[in-house]
Amino acid sequence: MTQAMLSRRQWLTGLVAAGVSPGAFAWGHDEFRSAAAELQPFRGLDGRDLQADSLVVEGRWPAGLVGRYFRNGPGLLQRGDRRYEHWFDGDGLLQCWTLAPGGRISHQARFVQTEKFRAEQGAGRFLLPAFGTAVPAQRPVRHADSVNVANTSVLLQGDQLYALWEGGSAYELDPATLQTRGVKVWSEALRGMPFSAHPKVEADGTVWNFGTAGGRLALYQLSAQGQVLRHAVLDVQAPPMLHDFAVSQRHLVFLMAPITLDRHALQAGAAMLAAMRWQAEQPTRVLVVDKADVSRWKLFEMPAAHVFHFGNAWDEGGHLRVDYVQGVPLPEFNAAIGQLMQGRRAERDVSTARVLDIDLATGRLTLAARDEAVEFPVVDPRVVAQRHRLVWYPTAVDTSARWGFNGLMRLDIESSARERFSYGDDVVVEEHVMVPRPGSRGEGAGWLLGMGYDIRRERSFLDVFDAQALGAGPIARAWLPYAVPYGFHGRFYAG
Ligand SMILES: [Fe+2]
Repeated sequence: MTQAMLSRRQWLTGLVAAGVSPGAFAWGHDEFRSAAAELQPFRGLDGRDLQADSLVVEGRWPAGLVGRYFRNGPGLLQRGDRRYEHWFDGDGLLQCWTLAPGGRISHQARFVQTEKFRAEQGAGRFLLPAFGTAVPAQRPVRHADSVNVANTSVLLQGDQLYALWEGGSAYELDPATLQTRGVKVWSEALRGMPFSAHPKVEADGTVWNFGTAGGRLALYQLSAQGQVLRHAVLDVQAPPMLHDFAVSQRHLVFLMAPITLDRHALQAGAAMLAAMRWQAEQPTRVLVVDKADVSRWKLFEMPAAHVFHFGNAWDEGGHLRVDYVQGVPLPEFNAAIGQLMQGRRAERDVSTARVLDIDLATGRLTLAARDEAVEFPVVDPRVVAQRHRLVWYPTAVDTSARWGFNGLMRLDIESSARERFSYGDDVVVEEHVMVPRPGSRGEGAGWLLGMGYDIRRERSFLDVFDAQALGAGPIARAWLPYAVPYGFHGRFYAG
């Protein structure tokens, strides 16, 4: 199936079948209507939930692709006439795509009922500071969870679905209904310590995660069932923003960017983000922690670099290899996001793929860099913490004029071979996840699954590709009868 094959007639027929009349948009905020078409999902929703059953599917949905695809992202970005100034501020909107046998697909999206969301929804206005927007506190801020928006990613363990945010606790939800249960406390010793939004799940289900507060770095090792196996707190002068990390067979690795916090600015009422200072002359510190004994760690240094996301890491002899995406320096990134939030396109440098080789004995660091614009790297979940070859990313293909990604790329980091698919100019692509085909064994055997936003139709959709044949285009597509605000991260759970 290709974009060109989806005729307007087919599309209209699909909408009628879904019980929705064309033009029934899910959002308001009139003052954002003048924004560029691809920025419309940055309007956000008004706090009401979404649900659509019996979605129209085009193409042939793979018989083995059955399960639930959970996603999270900032769903509410404005109250009254006040818009958030940064995308990261929005309240968590938890989505669940249910993929039932026979290609029967439904979608549900509910706001995480955080303490902040409930208070502000009741008041109809913002009451509490956000990460990137200075809102004077009109309620007590007792701890990080007073301002937790639970908007970044998800993790499912047994009957617990977690909505995750970098700066605070995990929020527990019912995975069947997406109803919020409350704040998760992993252990009394770690009460109030953040549980960040990028836990790593190894092939046997073991989970590693971290959280930072006041320069300290908490480490968590959980069993597949969610029991805390080990925890530790390291005093490593962690920066005020540390988003992701990577895990190899023997190590945890963090790239700590040269960001400091101006406490005077913070006390004077600046937003957290505005109080961060990018120290361009300072190094990014590479922290390597021994998984066998987390009290043993080493620091290396590399030129200032800002990294949001890692693909994976592995050990090879005395070397540690780390696959990640290097972002643009924080001030440029934030300036561009600020423009997007006002509905204006922003020119900026792009984020690009890297593989860092660390010689653990000599401390010599070697970097291999690529130049395609990419973000949101994912690997086959079967190779997490093991040597991998394949990484999938949203990418920009033959376009530099607008925000976002319009294609997908699979990269073989060993051979440098790449395969890309371009949607052209009418689609913005979000993070895609790699889903192993049941019964298969080889790395990359399976599907690439993810959401896109059709700019002309103002609808979001879910596409599935053969993960080894992106160039052939999507195998099948499930259309939503509405658009969903752009999200951050998701996970697929089979069954
Ligand atoms: Fe992230």
